[in-house]
Amino acid sequence: MPKKIKKVGVLTSGGDSPGMNAAIRSVVRTCAYHTIECIGIYRGYQGMIEGDFKEMGPRSVNNIVNKGGTILKSARSTEFRTAEGRKKAHENLVKAGIDALVVIGGDGTFTGGLLFNNEFNFPVMGIPGTIDNDIFGTSHTLGYDTALNTVVDVIDKIRDTASSHNRLFFVEVMGRDAGHIALNAGIGAGAEEILIPEEDLGLERLLESLQKSKASGKSSSIVVIAEGDKIGKNVFELKDYVDSNLPEYDVRVSVLGHMQRGGSPSCFDRVLASRLGVKAVESLLEGKSNYMVGLQNDKVALTPLEQAIKGKTEIDRELLRVSDIMST
Ligand code: F6P
Repeated sequence: MPKKIKKVGVLTSGGDSPGMNAAIRSVVRTCAYHTIECIGIYRGYQGMIEGDFKEMGPRSVNNIVNKGGTILKSARSTEFRTAEGRKKAHENLVKAGIDALVVIGGDGTFTGGLLFNNEFNFPVMGIPGTIDNDIFGTSHTLGYDTALNTVVDVIDKIRDTASSHNRLFFVEVMGRDAGHIALNAGIGAGAEEILIPEEDLGLERLLESLQKSKASGKSSSIVVIAEGDKIGKNVFELKDYVDSNLPEYDVRVSVLGHMQRGGSPSCFDRVLASRLGVKAVESLLEGKSNYMVGLQNDKVALTPLEQAIKGKTEIDRELLRVSDIMST
């Protein structure tokens, strides 16, 4: 018989994402609804090691559903990677009477949670929070939809100036290992070409495509590049390469950077966060552990943490074809 859960700890870890606050709110209020206690753990696993805890009642999460970032702060803890660090963290949880954890973050967060569970048999439930959408077992991670809207909005603005000056813009978006943001925002913003880590377009093809679009009468163009793309040149080197090979183009670069991670979450992310928070707490109360709660075919579903970490999220190849057709 698993131990009855009376006190749940919640933390956010890794890169923050819009919707994390809505998820914290959901976890806190679901605990209150089921009359169990909830403890906020500050700065992710680092706060667990330092015992940086605060009791959270339903009123402590007023007016945060609409806020970007995370009120619990986030960190990438190197100390938690050590057995010594995890031991300290466990001692602090036991001292505070916390008997289960909800961890909100990406695959690094889940890896830490799973390790912790394996070592101390401590119940853990994961909620996927990252703008990259690169977690297996969920069609959407928290913050992805908001980031897409942010990126599309910014590229729309870049388009205004690009077309006024007949320029080519290389726009770099986030995504170290995954091209979901680049691909979807690229199509949404009408990009000429989209370069993603999952597919090496090749420099020749890029030049050909740019030549073709000039010949077809386009006066300005936008190329969206994921930061982890595999073309072999960074965005500034690409500019130099196109400058020297296609002098007819006037090229500029815009690196969007961390602004993509900020801002008020979209309605989609708020609803998703609320649904996932409820499921995470209720699954723990049912005695489940080592799962991630995610969205599959618009239904909230559980995926073993191990699969969520090891599984690969595929990009939708049909979107590449759609993008090609749209740039005709
Ligand atoms: O994982 C989310 C992410 O935003 C990536 O897209 C990006 O490469 C990385 O985090 C940036 O991390 P940091 O904020 O530590 O520079």
